[in-house]
Amino acid sequence: MKVSSDNQAGDLTALAEYALRYVKPGFTIGLGTGRAASAFIRKLAESKITVRGVPTSNASEALARSLGIEIVPLGVKRIDADFDGADEVNARLDLIKGYGGALVREKVVAMASRRRIILVGAEKRVKHLGQRGCVPIEVIPFAVPFAMGEIARHGLKPKIRTDSDCNEILSDNGNLLLDCACSRQGLKNPARLERELLAIPGVVGTGLFIGIADIVLIGASDGSVQTLKRQSRS
Ligand code: A5P
Repeated sequence: MKVSSDNQAGDLTALAEYALRYVKPGFTIGLGTGRAASAFIRKLAESKITVRGVPTSNASEALARSLGIEIVPLGVKRIDADFDGADEVNARLDLIKGYGGALVREKVVAMASRRRIILVGAEKRVKHLGQRGCVPIEVIPFAVPFAMGEIARHGLKPKIRTDSDCNEILSDNGNLLLDCACSRQGLKNPARLERELLAIPGVVGTGLFIGIADIVLIGASDGSVQTLKRQSRS
């Protein structure tokens, strides 16, 4: 199969098709958010495999419904497999997610799933998390000024996410998103940073997904798909 590293729609379609091997009839599937996840939702619908989907955003829900995938709410029972994209992946399969703004629901659905499968182009691989730019953090609006100060104390530079008209963007949960710039070297200890950020009152969640991904499918520039599997949970 041909998968290039520039994340064009056609390449993601091929990667999404490859990911279908992890789907079985009757599965309940976590439906991620973003371009790779949308390509997967389209391929899933095309495949006609009978599944039910638990979406991670209003956008993914609308797409899946429009393609005839049955949508079910998050329940007590485990989701069989979650398929999502990522913004950065390191060698330990730790991730940064949330450039698309759905980080909180994405983490809930991932943690409610038996298996988490991530689809990315090769350009998302990094040595150190944070090297591609920032860590998204979702914060309740009331807490934003305080949280920004606390986040800055951890060496990050938080900025409220806005649209092209400079209007603040709200997540599907009605919260604000802080894009927190990192140093070019990336994060020294992402697991510790995640714990410290989550301890700030008003922080709902961060885009640091540490020890969560089980399988990462990487579309490489030579046209192959590389499969990385987590050896053991950290
Ligand atoms: C959405 O909140 C994100 O976590 C996306 O899953 C992630 O940004 C990857 O998106 P793309 O596949 O569009 O690059």
